[in-house]
Amino acid sequence: MPFKDPSQRSIPRTDIMQLFSTRNRPLNVCAPMVRYSKLPFRELVRRYNCDIVYTPMILADVFSASNYSRECEFSTNMLDDPVVIQFAASNGVDLANAAELAAPYVSGIDINCGCPQKWAINEKIGAHLMSDPESVRDMIRMTKARVNVPCSIKIRIHKDLRETEEFVKRALSVGVDFITVHGRTRRQKSTEPVSLEGMRFVKEVSTVPVLANGDVFSIDDAKMIVDATGVDGTMSARGILENPALFAGHKTTPWECIEDYVDLALSYGTNAFIFHHHLMYMFENTMSNAERRTFNSLTTIPSILDYLEEHYGLDIAQKRNRRRTAILI
Ligand SMILES: Cc1cc2nc3c(=O)[nH]c(=O)nc-3n(C[C@H](O)[C@H](O)[C@H](O)COP(=O)(O)O)c2cc1C
Repeated sequence: MPFKDPSQRSIPRTDIMQLFSTRNRPLNVCAPMVRYSKLPFRELVRRYNCDIVYTPMILADVFSASNYSRECEFSTNMLDDPVVIQFAASNGVDLANAAELAAPYVSGIDINCGCPQKWAINEKIGAHLMSDPESVRDMIRMTKARVNVPCSIKIRIHKDLRETEEFVKRALSVGVDFITVHGRTRRQKSTEPVSLEGMRFVKEVSTVPVLANGDVFSIDDAKMIVDATGVDGTMSARGILENPALFAGHKTTPWECIEDYVDLALSYGTNAFIFHHHLMYMFENTMSNAERRTFNSLTTIPSILDYLEEHYGLDIAQKRNRRRTAILI
């Protein structure tokens, strides 16, 4: 349980910076996703070759204001490693306060500089920060002075890449540990292709590891992006939501992965909306339209489980036995 006694953790958390230098291959990273990248999903993608997993974006000021908010926004456990917690903040005080509370439980603190939603821009967080490099510099500086876990930024590119270079240089000047670049500008929709040129540019002007984000829907996409840009790893959001096993080389979500998700979500607890949405994403490419129509109309966890038992032979008890046996062997 979080925010109680981090000293109970018997093994140290993974050092992400060491992962970059010792893994001898580009890293596979699961993106921060509001609503979705919660504890059960994080454990799921780790079973399928994800090296680093992010939490959803969390508002730093709310997080540090109350224990209730911390318990709601971030639950973790010993298996949740390495995890990077992503904060949205508009100033160094808010971010450093939140980072200090989270640091004992995570392997990294990330600043969201990419959320393009109107409310976020109005709050001067997310993609607003791409036009406020001074604030980002202050946030990194103040956070690094208070915690000793890596501090990273997740950025977008500017239309004029010279602006991106200035932004990156300022972050580097205060010791940002690594950078994730989503290869789109603040105004570009995710239906537009990512800019490989923008990603490559950020890698070229950086002296720290760089992760590329955008349009990774398969392991081949990840490889293509690494080859084209020279980045140190790739991060997937929509792709891994549809197919949590993509970094393990699966072209579509294997049934075993869906069973794993159901088991994890039920074990940890979930709400029906998120449970249903995860499954809708995972079935996206395998269900027929008629099946999808029926499945999408379900609203409760029991009705979803009934459907999966009836149509797919879901048997969670058997699944748990198989897993227990595999662990013992
Ligand atoms: C459902 C959903 C939730 C997201 N939430 C976050 C978030 O909390 N923080 C963040 O930095 N980006 C968030 N994003 C953006 C993704 O992390 C990623 O930058 C973007 O989707 C591009 O990657 P993709 O092409 O792999 O989807 C979210 C995207 C999706 C689809």
